[in-house]
Amino acid sequence: MKKICTVVGARPQFIKLAMVSRVLRREFREVLIHTGQHYDHNMSGIFFEEMDIPKPDYNLGISGGTHGQMTGQMLIEIEKVLLKERPDMLLLFGDTNSTLAGALAAVKLHIPVCHVEAGNRGGGILENPEEINRILTDHVSSLHLACTVSGVDFLKREGFSSSIHLVGDPMYDAFCYCSARLDGSELAELKGFDGSPISLPEDFYYMTCHRQENTDTDEKLDQIFQAMNSLDAQVIYPVHPRNHERAVRLREAGGYENIILVLPVGYKTSISLVNRAKKIITDSGGLQREAFFAQKPCVTVFDWAVWPETMVNGCNQLAKPQKEDILAKLDAPVQFNLSYQPFGDGHSAEKIVEQIRTYWNRR
Ligand code: UD1
Ligand code: UDP
Repeated sequence: MKKICTVVGARPQFIKLAMVSRVLRREFREVLIHTGQHYDHNMSGIFFEEMDIPKPDYNLGISGGTHGQMTGQMLIEIEKVLLKERPDMLLLFGDTNSTLAGALAAVKLHIPVCHVEAGNRGGGILENPEEINRILTDHVSSLHLACTVSGVDFLKREGFSSSIHLVGDPMYDAFCYCSARLDGSELAELKGFDGSPISLPEDFYYMTCHRQENTDTDEKLDQIFQAMNSLDAQVIYPVHPRNHERAVRLREAGGYENIILVLPVGYKTSISLVNRAKKIITDSGGLQREAFFAQKPCVTVFDWAVWPETMVNGCNQLAKPQKEDILAKLDAPVQFNLSYQPFGDGHSAEKIVEQIRTYWNRR
């Protein structure tokens, strides 16, 4: 049986892993490495519990610091594990520092890398840390598994050919699987920062905002808060630990009582919020896709489109981190087309494993 090492570290990777791992383990031996990049219970453990993800074989406990420190420490520790385990392949998801560290460690040891979400691009803007991670990971990968046609096109433009396969999006698998199993009880998990339960209003907007571009200074997050405070319904905002302190301080200083700050929630609660919200405001790559899956209008507060497929007919619109622009985009007309399904059929995990199998059969 071939051995595959999978490296994950951040919240969205646990969700993709949950779908892929259960299929992968039917025919491969998976060794799971958690870098530790996300470590709070509600950023990590909760996903392993609620999505039945196998316990990691290794938890490297590496988090925080500068991008270089984090990526460098991960590279050193992942290499040690790879030297011990000697896997036949390394499997990676997305665009985090954990992804890049895994890719660098493996390629230096001549271990082939399989990258899920290959070809996802924000236009080559290297000021964005995720874009750097995506481009570098793709350029050392042997198997490029793209979620969408735009991913395939980017990869072709960058000179890749026979290693590219369109497999659909494991986030869509997770969304389909989980949406069918919700009964409302998951909403009891909504808690304020003091741990007290939050009862969900009938009408609400769902917001997430954690990108360093939007949250590393007061000005932009304050503009976003001003927009949220003038909406016609309350805004539920689970706050990423990165900007917890800033969010509390700005809400208090601005008296933005329309915004309900809550602790990060588990995946089921998040999907339940997506399905019930009037509209979504986010800078998350995952949440903007989920808004599209649920046919909810979305405004993405970011400078460039990373998931162009969601941008048709105003379904997902880019806004600058400025009050007036966000409000204008939230008011713009939107039309969803039921027959347009650019993220696959909800069985991307099977296609990913099929491509890994075929990779070995071709050799
Ligand atoms: C990372 C990814 C980003 C992804 C996001 C998912 C990179 C470059 N970015 O950003 O693409 O959208 O994860 O959520 O990898 N922290 C905690 N507790 C935690 C996790 C983080 O306190 O459980 C703190 C860290 O100590 C750090 C800060 O939050 O100081 C930011 O975390 P980090 O993992 O560096 O980046 P993210 O913003 O989470
Ligand atoms: N999410 C979650 N709890 C939260 C906020 C988001 O489970 O409190 C889910 C969200 O539904 C989506 C994923 O986390 O499935 C997106 O992760 P994140 O925004 O952290 O990263 P990105 O997708 O931007 O890389």
